[in-house]
Amino acid sequence: CGIVGYAGARPALEIVLDGLRRLEYRGYDSAGVAILSAAEIAVAKRAGKLANLDRVLAEVEDARIAAGTVGIGHTRWATHGGPTDRNAHPHLSADGRVAVIHNGIIENFALLRAELEAQGIEFQSETDTECVAHLLAFELAVVPEKGAAALAEAMRRVCRRLEGAFTLLAVDREAPDAVVGARRNSPLVVGVGQGENFLASDVSAFIAHTRDALELGQDQVVLITTEGVEVTDFEGKPAEARPYHVDWDARAAEKGGHDWFMEKEILEQPQAVHDTLLGRLSETGSILLDEVRLTDQDLRDVDKIFVVACGTAYHAGMVAKYAIEHWTRIPCEVELASEFRYRDPVLDRSTLVIAISQSGETMDTLMALRHAKEQKARVLAICNTNGSTIPRESDAVLYTHGGPEIAVASTKAFLTQLAACYLVGLHLAQVRGIKYADEVASVVEQLRAMPEAIATVLADLDGMRTLARDLSTRNTVLFIGRHVGYPVALEGALKLKELAYMHAEGFAAGELKHGPIALIDEGTPVVCVVPSPAGRGVLHDKIVSNIQEVRARGARTIVIAEEGDDAVVPYADHVIRVPRTPTLLAPFVTTVPLQVLACEIATARGHDVDQPRNLAKSVTVE
Ligand code: G6P
Repeated sequence: CGIVGYAGARPALEIVLDGLRRLEYRGYDSAGVAILSAAEIAVAKRAGKLANLDRVLAEVEDARIAAGTVGIGHTRWATHGGPTDRNAHPHLSADGRVAVIHNGIIENFALLRAELEAQGIEFQSETDTECVAHLLAFELAVVPEKGAAALAEAMRRVCRRLEGAFTLLAVDREAPDAVVGARRNSPLVVGVGQGENFLASDVSAFIAHTRDALELGQDQVVLITTEGVEVTDFEGKPAEARPYHVDWDARAAEKGGHDWFMEKEILEQPQAVHDTLLGRLSETGSILLDEVRLTDQDLRDVDKIFVVACGTAYHAGMVAKYAIEHWTRIPCEVELASEFRYRDPVLDRSTLVIAISQSGETMDTLMALRHAKEQKARVLAICNTNGSTIPRESDAVLYTHGGPEIAVASTKAFLTQLAACYLVGLHLAQVRGIKYADEVASVVEQLRAMPEAIATVLADLDGMRTLARDLSTRNTVLFIGRHVGYPVALEGALKLKELAYMHAEGFAAGELKHGPIALIDEGTPVVCVVPSPAGRGVLHDKIVSNIQEVRARGARTIVIAEEGDDAVVPYADHVIRVPRTPTLLAPFVTTVPLQVLACEIATARGHDVDQPRNLAKSVTVE
């Protein structure tokens, strides 16, 4: 979910709505606002995308809503209770005194609800959030403080009773210049302005107004008013919040003339990869990773690596495994973060866990890393979001410098995650000084060439675009690859599922004959990711055989192959060319046409590419 709060002197509605627009990628099942004006709280909310709420607001033209200078807003990804008007946030207490919005899941909500119902409260929604509104009203009736201080104290008391993960914002009509926020496990940042302050799930919500932010810690309550910001822990002890300056501006989070954020982000990939490598490759061909706060000795002690991640980041981890094991000879396993802690993995002090997350807030990944830390493993985060929870809780972090990624389907984050993983792999190889360390200098050179190679792919995608329109009426598309081409196939299929809502599956090409080949019928499109014939020639020849096998069964083959690879031509219905790239680095170029394929098919099918149904960019529940 996306959350915004504002306390200042300007009309809050516009600022809150604009913030929600920038956060809508975090959830778009419903949206709502609560604005404080003349000691009243006016609420408007609606199921569906923000545009529905805009329409409601235009119809009601509520003068109170328009005039208020303090407010909160929410855009929801439904957990408890379906995406209906009633379940949309904000939720009011029974006496209408407080309004609350929430991101996360309150795990003991059934108990709290039963307790509140026993006291005569009639619930208006099926959400866990509504409990908080009623509990706050009860506490406000008994706390000794007045005004804003009372609201903060009531919030602390309520938080002490909540289990689970939450970011909460609340307004109280008897504290007309304040918004209170609280966080446990879910994201919340403060924007510090002049005579106005902001709260939001991430900085993009207020970046147009201020680039000065405060990073909140775990289990903290924050009170913002026009005058200032006060942070305490749940017990009321003053707490420190780390100030930081955001180094990108509002334009970076705008579409800039493109139809979709996704299209813009695909085109930004050469720059994103370049920025992620910048300053980390030395002139002499070694890796400079001073910002990874693990000593060389720590890294020499590593005898096992786990990569944990979700979705696209998991695919980046799968690619990384090939490179890391090859260069370092350390066993490396890749695991879906949501599975990791439940199977009791074997971890100890000499295990390095690499948690990959664009947002740094994915709950599954966060829980996996906490489990790893409990078992004394060292955790290195690869993350795109400064100050987010995953890097904060890790022993070390390597930031990808991809800039804000807004489209729900991840693109530039994936390529920058690959770059970061390779840096980690090469750094480890170098520090440990083993056999493959010799390769480091040459791989550094190859990595430097990647931004240009990606740009070359991007310059020549008309063939893929035409083909995509042609494929848009199909029901199924299959993807095959071997070695690092296998995770690329999985990523291609994931993109198509997410955006085009088509049946799409990725397979290790060698596994086809063990079952999936039965899916192939006359005309079934099969996208084949082919490695370079140079280097690992065997790999190349094997996949060419696999292409022949599917073709013999009627498949329509779409082959992604490097420039000059003529061996594929006789078996390809369509060839999409990518520049010559060493096998391990090939995902930098072979992924790009697959991203474009999904974006174009989804567009042709009339879908919202940036906000596909049922999904959210940052999933902060388990
Ligand atoms: C969500 C998004 C995916 C993303 C995954 C992991 O499910 O829809 O695109 O890959 O989360 O996100 P993270 O922020 O941890 O990389």
